[in-house]
Formats: sequence, structure tokens, C-alpha cells
Amino acid sequence: MSLTRDASGLLRLGGVDLADLVSRVGTPSYVYDIDAIAAEARALRLAFDDAVHLVAYAVKANSAGPIVRGLAAEGCGADVVSGGELLVAMGCGIPPDRIVFSGVAKTDDEIDRAIHAGERGILALQIESIEELHRIEARARASARRAQIAIRVNPAVEKEAVGTHAHVTTGHDEAKFGVARDDVPAALSLANRAKHLDLIGISVHVGSQLTSTDAYVAAGRIVFDLARVARERGASLQFVGTGGGFGIDYGEGCAVKPADFVRAVRAEQRAFGLEALSLHVEPGRSLVAAHGVLLAQVIQTKRAPHGADTPERAWLVIDAGMNDLLRPALYQARHRIVPVEASRRDLRAYRVVGPVCESADDFGEHPDLADSGFVAILDAGAYGYTMASRYNGRALPAEVFVQDGRIVAVAEREAPDAWVEGRLRVVER
Ligand code: LLP
Repeated sequence: MSLTRDASGLLRLGGVDLADLVSRVGTPSYVYDIDAIAAEARALRLAFDDAVHLVAYAVKANSAGPIVRGLAAEGCGADVVSGGELLVAMGCGIPPDRIVFSGVAKTDDEIDRAIHAGERGILALQIESIEELHRIEARARASARRAQIAIRVNPAVEKEAVGTHAHVTTGHDEAKFGVARDDVPAALSLANRAKHLDLIGISVHVGSQLTSTDAYVAAGRIVFDLARVARERGASLQFVGTGGGFGIDYGEGCAVKPADFVRAVRAEQRAFGLEALSLHVEPGRSLVAAHGVLLAQVIQTKRAPHGADTPERAWLVIDAGMNDLLRPALYQARHRIVPVEASRRDLRAYRVVGPVCESADDFGEHPDLADSGFVAILDAGAYGYTMASRYNGRALPAEVFVQDGRIVAVAEREAPDAWVEGRLRVVER
């Protein structure tokens, strides 16, 4: 983690004093350490040794320009799931031939943009259904182009086997994702016959925040097995993809590192005799989560007396809520929270809550917090700002980017003034 507390108690991210930062930028604000994110990508790429590979960063985790640009500079590609993310990835310098496009609902417009990106289109549209295969073929035919596709297979790995929150398990057979394993042979034949499609890969994504390599490797075996079948049927595959999902330590431990997933799956790839194919992984969270914090200000405390069998309640009410960081409300996720100023002596446990009018706007019980000042919500670099909303009339938070020990860019918290008529188009009657 790039967060440190020095001897004098100052909390720093990437070397920048967060107490000083907060006095200048205000709250709620996300702060990210670009150097640590780049180092994370470098460490992951080392796990491939000299094997052909692509680290396709899952842009959905954090699509901020300085972050995507930093990962592009490390040679990362991108896994995008919308035309908007495609625009961000290309705008940040990721070449189209390092971009894959996943998602069950690609619109015609998004398919066209992917096919027409750069000289030859993006590396691959990862198809999630046979119906989509037909649509991509039609769009490619309409513009007399060829589209490169990969089949994203649904490996039907049991939800329970993945060992993560049900909302982020994607590879079970009730999930809307991926082509059912039994339909893959049909998809192979269709792709083979399609004049405007080149099938170049088979991929999978089994779920997110995996804290063991088991389900990841099991899904990898399914991909490798299908890749062998595809080759036997004449497909000129270029890659096999085993998805993202590498877990991080949110404070409860995570025994496996991102590189462990890569090493484990590479061993299987070799066992299947497929080492000549490029191995794609699609990490989002593991590259960015630990290198971002959400800073908030304590608004006040609130106490409620205890009854015969209820303990006294002590809430710490802060100015960041579920609209800024949705993970606790949506997945019962726990993020550690620490005071920004460490000089305080009056630390105690509080239930930390935000300002949003929902009981789910609750960050849980945390020890060692003070009744005023600022707090840092840790490990908020992934799926924080990208899932933020304006619910309850709240402006989107600020974002601050730190590099070389200093602030290099700031996206101010938006001003709500424009909301009243900003996007309104008056329609004549
Ligand atoms: N590839 C595909 C096809 C995906 O659907 C995802 C994530 C990833 C890669 C990246 O997974 P990661 O390495 O970040 O685990 N909002 C949730 C996570 C949702 C993940 C959705 N798909 C959260 O905050 O935990």
C-alpha cells in the first residue's frame, strides 16, 4: 500500500501529506498514487517472464485519465465494456490492437466504433452470446470490414466455489455473461463460416475479489480445453484469456498475490501445450484499489442512549456517503477507515455513516477514530469514483492525482449550479 504514516503522525499517499492536501482540495475527495499503480502493473507483467501476454486493464475499476495513461505507459492494454471506456482507453494512448471489448449489451454504435478504431479495429470484441456473434458479423459486413472476435465462455463454475460476493460472481450458469460452454462448438462453427469475422481468442472471467487461485485456474482449464478444440477445428487463435478478479487485502488478509494467479494459470497453459498463444489477463481492482483513498470530513458525532440490552451507540457522521463509495452498501464491503491527523488522543470506536438518506449508507464499525477532523477511507482506488452518483443532490467528489511525490492533477468537485438546466433541451410545442 502506498499509504504511510511517518514518525510525526502525518498520513501520506505517494509522499503527499493528506492533511495539507485536504485543506486545499476539500472533501469528499479521492486521492490516487499514480507511481504505485504503475509499479503494480510492472510487478504483474514480470510474472509472465518472457511469455507473450497482455495485461488488459479493466477500465471499469477506475477510468480516470492520469491512471489509464500511466498504465498505458507500462504497456498495458484495456478491457472495455462501453463506447465511453473505449474512448477513454484510446484517448489515453492505448493502441486499438491492445483493446478487448466485453459486455453483454454492445450496441450497434459501439460495435461500429470498435470495428473502425484505428486502421484495423480493436484487437477483439469478446462475444457473450451467439446472437451477438450474428450482430457483429452483420455490422462488419455492412462496412465491408473484418472484425476480430473472441468467445467469452461461461464456465459454469458454481457461485460457492468462487468464494466471493454473489454480486461479483460472473461465471456461474445463471449469470447473463458468456457463451454457455455447451454452445461453444456451435459458436466455433458459426465463426468459422462467417466471412467477416476472425476468431482469434477464447476467454473467461469468473468473478472478482478472488482470494484463492482455485476457481481461476479451473476456469482457465476450461478455456484451454476449448482453445484446443477451436484449433483442431481450424481456428487461428492468437490468445487465451483468463480474465481479472485478483483479490486484494481489504484488511482481512488475502494470501494470494496477482502474480500467483498468473503463474498458476501459465503452468496450466503449458500443460495444455498452448504456450505459443498470448495469455490475456484483465485485472481492474488489483492494479488500483490499494493506491487510492477517499478523504472525508467529520461533520459531527451522534450518540443514542443504551437500553437494557442495547449498548450505547456512537456514530461518526462524515461528509462522504454511499453516493461517493457504493461498495459497502452494495456488497457489504468493509473498507478500513483511519484518522488523517494522528496527533489526537481521544480516539475511540465509532459506527461511521454518511449523509445519504438510506440506512445502507453505513461504512461499519471502526476503532480509533476522533470526533472531528478528517478521515481516510482506504483501498478506494477501484470501483469508487466510477460507481459514484449524484444521489441526494450530491456533487460527484473531487479527484487528486499524485506522482513523483507531488500533486500533478486535480479534478475539482463538480459544482451543482449546472444541474438545473445544464443538459435540458427545450422542446418546442
Ligand atoms: N474482466 C471482466 C469481463 C469483468 O467483468 C471484470 C469485472 C474484470 C475483468 C475486472 O475484475 P477485477 O480484476 O477488477 O476484479 N464493482 C465490484 C466489482 C465488479 C467487477 C465487475 N467485472 C466491486 O466493487 O467489488
